[in-house]
Amino acid sequence: MEGEKKQVTCYLLFSLSTAVIGSLQFGYNTGVINAPEQKLRAFFNATWMERYGEPIKPGVCTIVWSFAVAIFSVGGMVGSFSVGVIANKFGRRKSMILVNVLALIGGGLMGLCTLCSSYEMVIAGRLVIGLFCGLFTGLTPMYVGEVSPTPLRGAFGTLHQLGVVIGILIAQIFGLEYLLGSDKLWPLLLALTVLPAVLQCILLPFCPESPRYLLINLNEEEQARKALVRLRGYEDVGKDMQEMKEESAKTAMEKKVTIPELFRTAAYRQPLLIAIMLQLSQQLSGINAVFYYSTGIFESAGVTQPIYATIGAGIVNTVFTVVSLFLVERAGRRTLHLIGLGGMAISALVMTIALLLVGSAVCFHFAEDSKLKISDHHGNAYVMSYLYFLIFVPEQKDIEALRYLSIAAVFAFVAMFEMGPGPIPWFIVAELFSQGPRPAAMAVAGCSNWTANFLVGISFPKLEELCGPYVFIIFMIFLIIFFIFTYFKVPETKGRTFDDIARGFSGAPPPTATSVEEAGRVALPASPVKEKVPLV
Ligand code: GLC
Repeated sequence: MEGEKKQVTCYLLFSLSTAVIGSLQFGYNTGVINAPEQKLRAFFNATWMERYGEPIKPGVCTIVWSFAVAIFSVGGMVGSFSVGVIANKFGRRKSMILVNVLALIGGGLMGLCTLCSSYEMVIAGRLVIGLFCGLFTGLTPMYVGEVSPTPLRGAFGTLHQLGVVIGILIAQIFGLEYLLGSDKLWPLLLALTVLPAVLQCILLPFCPESPRYLLINLNEEEQARKALVRLRGYEDVGKDMQEMKEESAKTAMEKKVTIPELFRTAAYRQPLLIAIMLQLSQQLSGINAVFYYSTGIFESAGVTQPIYATIGAGIVNTVFTVVSLFLVERAGRRTLHLIGLGGMAISALVMTIALLLVGSAVCFHFAEDSKLKISDHHGNAYVMSYLYFLIFVPEQKDIEALRYLSIAAVFAFVAMFEMGPGPIPWFIVAELFSQGPRPAAMAVAGCSNWTANFLVGISFPKLEELCGPYVFIIFMIFLIIFFIFTYFKVPETKGRTFDDIARGFSGAPPPTATSVEEAGRVALPASPVKEKVPLV
């Protein structure tokens, strides 16, 4: 269609980029805590000494540290759960402006912690930043989904994930010892999040409010039309307006959609199950085991400079998000999600075998050289492959090859994640629901994501201790379950309007007289919206 090209205007790109600063913040704050672990522990110790005149006990230090890491996801759960109320009360754009106040508070608390000799400020700051990120994991995909033209909603939806991965990469690079990860500068590394927050607050007033929010929630038809004309770059926005009005008319007939009702209403049950399962597939794939603990994983594979392998994973992560961005409107969401889950399961298997072999090959050399027994806590896990090496004696070059294989498997795991399970769950929720239940659904989906994120983050070190190199087999099993679920239950949403997708779930017949294709030529009803959409 010739009109479709023109739908991408500089103004639309500007508005999307501004919204995606929120995603960048989420990525940055996810990745930023890894590098300065030792600095933070030293700071906890120094503060303790100052207060109590004795060094902090290692156990207490670990508790304070885990608290500072995990409380971020707790904030994320609460933030993502509140997104519906805020987005409907203040609108999408004003909510984004208001929520940035949290970044200023959180960044300020963390940045000033050394000056005030208070580790409590780090913990409080991480909690507030978690709240902030939780809200943005709902607000950005919602805004992006609502302002994007239907044929490009998937590609633009992937921008959220692109923002996240670039944020992670920036945090990994800035966290290097000779940049901001040094003894003196680490508080600045944590506080840096205030800069994008200020930038976004300056830019947001120049962006439009979501036309869908204006029309469907506020019944401001003229404002909605104006915003749409600016975003699309042409006057004739009848087709989009008609599509929104159809959704609006339907929404006006819908009862109040609160979170409990979302669960109770039969028509929402199927899309809600899909939304939650897709979020779980993203987190229980084990991706954050890599992003939170990759340095340790590379270390156990004997990589000498693990931090660079970690940054390598960040680069692969970014490159493949771009690949997905170009594929998602061609291959479709469902196909890419299946490819991603399948590819991750295979990579997890290869990673397990490589880690197992590299570990036992090293043990074999140890045992040969110094007559040591396999005695590390992963010992039992290695017995089988150790027996293997009694038959095939490993040489140094084999060990090197296995190390590269384990790095390649981690990179493939990350690459496959970004093909589908990374970007798709974030934007598909906005596609599966119409305007009425959308904010409540985003809240439930976001909260499931953050809860699973928290569980993986908190349990991975223990699981690794218990299972050794077999730990990724757990994720492989989850990946297979989610693959089967996606194959049987997830519909393709590529190129379909929100209303059409919702209708697909309710089993209603397709529209006739005012069909969307016809919409451009059909006279618009004067004002189909009788009520405002109730708050969640
Ligand atoms: C997704 C996940 C996030 C993860 C990131 C990695 O955005 O939600 O938890 O860290 O991808 O790229």
